[in-house]
Amino acid sequence: MASVFVTRKIPTVGVDLLKKAGHEVDVSEKDGVLTKEELVAELGKKEYEAVLCLLTDTIDGEVLDAAPHAKIFANYAVGYNNIDLDAAKGHGVTVTNTPGVLTDTVAEYAFSLMLVVAKRIAEADRFTRAGKYEGWAPELLLGSDLKGQILGILGAGRIGSGVATRASRGLGMNVIYYDVKRNEALEGEIECTFKETVEEVMKEADVVSVHVPLLDATKHLINKERLALMKKSAYFINTSRGPVVDEAALVDALREGVIAGAGLDVYENEPALAPGLAELPNVTITPHIASASEGTRNKMSEMAAQNIVDFLAGNTPPNVVS
Ligand code: DGY
Repeated sequence: MASVFVTRKIPTVGVDLLKKAGHEVDVSEKDGVLTKEELVAELGKKEYEAVLCLLTDTIDGEVLDAAPHAKIFANYAVGYNNIDLDAAKGHGVTVTNTPGVLTDTVAEYAFSLMLVVAKRIAEADRFTRAGKYEGWAPELLLGSDLKGQILGILGAGRIGSGVATRASRGLGMNVIYYDVKRNEALEGEIECTFKETVEEVMKEADVVSVHVPLLDATKHLINKERLALMKKSAYFINTSRGPVVDEAALVDALREGVIAGAGLDVYENEPALAPGLAELPNVTITPHIASASEGTRNKMSEMAAQNIVDFLAGNTPPNVVS
């Protein structure tokens, strides 16, 4: 039996699985994200042998030092930019994530955001609730059609491919994509065109949807210069990680009509929003919920816990991050 610390309340399926495997589980009692000091203090309370952490926890050398017996940190997320992998390696700590189980949910969400923005659905909802609807009018809240338009995918991994497939098959959009490597499987599945550069996608697409992981190389991948390449009529969707976008530059682009609109689920300094973002009518903003379906969050909980169970049983967990 080992002691496992879970940094925040998660769907119970994962906790149950850990307990069923015979482990003692302590779940943080705080209703919110633990600060670094709080996390370090919690980890110092026992000789924890595993930690199930969240994307909102910064796991660095100091945190790893606080749990010297914990040789696995299982992230409850597919993204793991919150974990210092070099520090983990230096501490002999295995890091795992939850890939695959949230692909469809996030792809559906990005696809929905694209429609919400193009059809101005959130804006129309605010308008109607505000009592501004005075009857049908020929030019009220005109949006855009997506059939035959170009969807530009940046990052054609699992989720990017899921969005591309839905847009191609469901809406009849033409897909172009950029990735560090060509995705032949996607090209075999739908008609789509690989572009050699981010710039080509920015220039040609009517909607750009970002699906890259946050790495040093992708921080501010979308900046003022690249936004300026987009069509004035184009939309920008981000469900990946906020720092991939220079949010201040995006606010300026939306305000100055450089692009037509945006749908964002993630932010550069979550949960804070860039000044002016929330006041813009042409942006739909949601609170990092792209993977938030009941079924998927249960699966993420189970997968994170299973990684720990396997590790503590002396096996290589299925989702080790390299
Ligand atoms: C992830 O898993 O990385 C998402 O951002 C949250 O589910």
